This record gives sequence, C-alpha cells and structure tokens, in this order.
Amino acid sequence: MTTEYLRDTPADIERAAEILRGGGLVGIPTETVYGLAANALNGEAVAGIFRAKGRPMDNPLIVHIAEIDDIQRFSLAREIPDAARELAKRFWPGPLTIILRKGDAIPDEVSAGLDTVAIRLPAHPAARRIIREAGTPLAAPSANLSGSPSPTTAAHVMNDLNGKIDAVLDGGACDVGVESTVITLATDIPTVLRPGGVTVEQLRGALGEVAVDSAVLHKLEEGRAAASPGMKYKHYAPKANVVLLKCTDEEFIGYVSERGGRGVAALCCDEDVEALRGVKTVSLGKRGDYEAQAHNLFDSLRRVDGYGDVVTVYARLPHTDGVGMAVYNRLIRAAGFEVIDLENS
Ligand code: TXA
Ligand code: MG
Repeated sequence: MTTEYLRDTPADIERAAEILRGGGLVGIPTETVYGLAANALNGEAVAGIFRAKGRPMDNPLIVHIAEIDDIQRFSLAREIPDAARELAKRFWPGPLTIILRKGDAIPDEVSAGLDTVAIRLPAHPAARRIIREAGTPLAAPSANLSGSPSPTTAAHVMNDLNGKIDAVLDGGACDVGVESTVITLATDIPTVLRPGGVTVEQLRGALGEVAVDSAVLHKLEEGRAAASPGMKYKHYAPKANVVLLKCTDEEFIGYVSERGGRGVAALCCDEDVEALRGVKTVSLGKRGDYEAQAHNLFDSLRRVDGYGDVVTVYARLPHTDGVGMAVYNRLIRAAGFEVIDLENS
C-alpha cells in the first residue's frame, strides 16, 4: 500500500478522518509522540494496528478522546471516579493517561482482555480535530515498529511504517517527546505505571497519596505479572547497545574518552561535547534540563543509529526527579536494565 503524506490543513484533517471512519490506520501527531490511530470501537480496525507495528496482542492500547464527555457518550468506562475528574480538570488536555474500569463499548483488541481501559485527552490541536472529525474515539499506540524508539516526527513514522499504514499526518515535532504518564485508578491507591510529562510530584499535588509501580524504575521480577503489560517488553532500543553509567560528570567524560573511537558514541549533555572531542556525540540538551532531555531523547537514539557504525552508546544514568523519571524509565529499558556503577567499583 502507498502511505499518504498529509499536512495539518482542514482538507487533510478531513482526509485522515475519512480513512479512520473507513477502518484504516493513520499516524497522527500528539504533544507526546506520534500515535498510530484506528477507530477504537472497531475491533477489526484495531487489529490492524498490532499487525502494522508487530505488537504483541497482549499489550493493550490507549483510547484517545476529544472531550471528557466522550467517556460517557461512547460508553468507554463504567464510571468516572472523583479522582479522575480531578486529574482531568488539572491535566487534560495533556500528557496523562488514566486507567479506569472499562465500559461496554471497548473491544477486546483494545483492552487485551483486561477489565480496564486506558483513556487520554491529547493537547495537540490536530489530534483533537482528527478525533472530532472522525466522530469516534481513536485507539493509538506510539507509531513505531514494536521495540524501536517512539516517533517524535512524521519522518520517524515514515521510516518505520511507510507502506504499512494508510497515511501519516505531519503536525510538526512533538513537544513533550516521551509518551504520556500512565496512572491507574483501578487500584486502592492511585499508581503510576509509566512516568511521562505529568510528574509524580504533580499527581501527588492533585490526589495526595500516589504510588509508583516498582517496574517503573526496576526490572520486573521473574514470575511477577506486569501491571502494565507494556512494561515487560524490551523497549525504545536503538540498534546500538545502550550502556548506562552511574557516575559523576567527570567520571563519565573520563570513562567514555578512554573508550572513544570506532563503534563508540556518547549520549551526553551540551556541556560534555567539548570535553568529548574525538568521540561521536549526540546531546540530549543542557545538564539538569529534564524537559529538553525528554524532548530530544527518542530522536537522539535514532540519530545514534544514523551514524551507521555505532556498536555501543554510553549514557549517564539520569536523575529521577520531575520529568527526569520519564527519561530514566525509557533509558533503563533501552539498556535492558544494565547499569555500570563507577561510584561503587
Ligand atoms: O503518549 C502516549 O501515551 C502515546 C500517544 C500516541 O498518545 N501512546 C502510547 O501508547 O504511548 P503505547 O501503546 O505505546 O503505550 C501504552 C501503554 C503500554 O505500556 C500499555 O501496556 C499500557 O499503556 N496500558 C494500556 N492500557 C492499559 C490497561 N488497561 N492497564 C494497564 N496498562 C495499560
Ligand atoms: Mg509504545
């Protein structure tokens, strides 16, 4: 199939909506990452998403809506608890996904057989217009091949899925750069299953007690079921081997400089580039600027592979405060949880 390249114009948004109404697949921009959208209420259309991405069928999808009233209008959830209304008031439209007990309209393909459903109201104006024009909520995982870094531009989507989906709509580079924060309200204590642009600190400000699932920062223990099935897969990985170093800024520069040369690159900060002369570098942004690091993360991982000959890429283990937790969570998965601790060696 030929993938249509659409732009952020009223006519092209109408075209995207028409494809979606007809059961097709469209790569759509959101403020977090590009999504691969299908009509969420059409199980057959949703099954196409799994085929195009090569995604395991047991990994459920997020349902995207244009207004909070869509939850009731389309019977997406059994009820909307007060905590969900509070979160929606503070953080929607925006990079937060809320898990609720699922309503009757949700096909099994979307929820992967769970009795819950993930719902998000995105902030990107084109995403909301497409949902409205399509006249239906849209199921959309990130629009990458399963396992590779999530796409933050329409070009990334084309690299992975050209010829496998009906269209992509180019709405520019994504603002946040990492996927939404996922919080479940289906547990006694609201629990973060995936960190993102809305921070744990902000969620505690809204709800009081909020737990962080242990799989966010640690490898899932053998035999334990994943609260969020997506967390059990190796994820976000470039072709190069990502190695994380727990160390000071000086130790990082020393360690990487000693090994710099053929096949080696550093995923670093602006302040390191000068000191790492002779090593291939891709900078995530300024030290301590977690928003910039999140914004640049996936594009940077793809750029490492763009060098063509990188076998090993070294990065520093990020801090976990604020949006740093999202960067940590993605990088530690990209590294398959391998960390070299220079501080205690
Ligand atoms: O920012 C985002 O969330 C992007 C954009 C396109 O909106 N979407 C996205 O979708 O990241 P995806 O499919 O790549 O990630 C969805 C995550 C997965 O880890 C999945 O396991 C989890 O949410 N999830 C979905 N439904 C769930 C449920 N009912 N219970 C627990 N986890 C769920
Ligand atoms: Mg994904």
